[in-house]
Amino acid sequence: MGRSGRRANPTQSKILKEMKKSRTQENIDHSLTVIAPAKINLHLEILGLRTDGFHELAMVMQSIDLCDQIKLVARNDNIISLKSDNSNLSNDDDNLIVKAAKLLRSESGNLNLGVDMFLKKCIPIGAGLAGGSTDAAATFLGLNSLWNLKFSLSELERFAAKIGSDIPFCLKGGTQLCFGRGELLEPLNYEYEPLAVVLVKDPNVSVSTPWAYQRFREKNSFSYLNSEVEFNLRRECLRKEPRLRPLSSKNPPSLRNDLQSVVFEDNQSVRKSLKLLNEFKGALKVAMSGSGPSCFALYSDLQAAKQDVLANKQRLAQTNLDVWCCSFLNHGVQLNS
Ligand code: C5P
Repeated sequence: MGRSGRRANPTQSKILKEMKKSRTQENIDHSLTVIAPAKINLHLEILGLRTDGFHELAMVMQSIDLCDQIKLVARNDNIISLKSDNSNLSNDDDNLIVKAAKLLRSESGNLNLGVDMFLKKCIPIGAGLAGGSTDAAATFLGLNSLWNLKFSLSELERFAAKIGSDIPFCLKGGTQLCFGRGELLEPLNYEYEPLAVVLVKDPNVSVSTPWAYQRFREKNSFSYLNSEVEFNLRRECLRKEPRLRPLSSKNPPSLRNDLQSVVFEDNQSVRKSLKLLNEFKGALKVAMSGSGPSCFALYSDLQAAKQDVLANKQRLAQTNLDVWCCSFLNHGVQLNS
């Protein structure tokens, strides 16, 4: 190799040219796929209002194996593009995937980075399952690897919190306590049986998360906790909450979702879903996830969940609900090996 300041001879120039060409070729061919699991809320408690206008939360979130997939193909120009198999989704700057890609590129300081992204959507949209958030988390993880940026998990979590409250959880996933807006994470590191869920959702109904929080505030702000001291006491209680551990079929976690009551009043599909699931014989516990309208029933294992769906096949067919049987996962977004 010629040192700086010296001219390379013709043979060296040819080799340099070929290396550059092969590096470019490698770059163009460089691609990877990321798996993005949905989440359910085992616990969603609204503690009060924060000075930034968001709600102070205490949650337990759980990843499940209902997953989107994002294929990322590196470009050798600075274009960031998104295509998806779901025509109801925007592929523009308002999509969390594009927001995540642009934020990560800006944090890297290299504005020449580009990528083509292809989303295979399986998680229903506007369902309370963090579908958009997990796609954004997958984008952070995938592009960190594709662009060889070497940001740590905690750095990615910090970037993620800038564009959505549930995205930091989706990076590591599993079972975690989530405080603050949802971005302050504490993994629950005990052994638990991998429970399963039957999940139902009306494909024609979605719930606006800002609406659900606003409605809750209108009805319940009189009972909000008002200080950091009070928030901390409640967090400490939840950390010690015996009904949250161990998660097992003999001792299933107690479910709580504060948004359920307001969405229940307003949304017929949630009333229908909860009534139906409560009548399923094997269901251990039943609740709405996030701001709805997805509802789920907990089961001891996947087989028990599938059996109950089979036993209720005719009743389910009479509804227009989509149905999934899923297992708990102990991880969040992952590169597809
Ligand atoms: O952060 P994310 O985009 O998921 O939040 C969507 C909306 O839900 C917010 O704009 C806010 O209205 C409401 N929200 C809230 N408190 C939280 C999280 C969300 O009030 N902790």
